[in-house]
Amino acid sequence: MLEKTKMVPFNGTKEQEESLRQVIEELKNDKGSLMPIMQKAQDIYGYLPYEVQKIISDEMDVPLEKIYGVATFYSQFNLFPKGKYKISVCLGTACYVKGSGDIYNKLMETLGIAGGECTSDGKFSLDACRCIGACGLAPVMMINDEVYGRLTVEEIDGILSKYE
Ligand code: FES
Repeated sequence: MLEKTKMVPFNGTKEQEESLRQVIEELKNDKGSLMPIMQKAQDIYGYLPYEVQKIISDEMDVPLEKIYGVATFYSQFNLFPKGKYKISVCLGTACYVKGSGDIYNKLMETLGIAGGECTSDGKFSLDACRCIGACGLAPVMMINDEVYGRLTVEEIDGILSKYE
């Protein structure tokens, strides 16, 4: 049975925190440095969890709400880590008219997460993507480099169960 809670435990290391504090120290007095610092923080951790946003907020004396607002507004920032298996469902037109929205909904329901999130065991993350150039196989999803085409909702459980 898949874990249904969506909080992924934070497991940042001391080294990561030191790198982040160093980046902040170097850049914080530059004008417009918030975005570059957040970008570097994401490079260090792979995503921007609450704990990382809090360090940036404290060190830069910028309200946490502002950091969160920037992190959610710009699509380049991830609030959740990517899973061991990254699922991307194509919501391009050809796939969408063939039912990829239903596939996406089924995955959200089965995994207990929303788009952009990761299961708490770190196994699966779910995202929507644009056309991947395989419209002839619509509807399409990818799990890491593996492409699944002409998908039906009924196949989803069987496909997920192949991933250990
Ligand atoms: S629209 Fe999905 S692969 Fe092209």
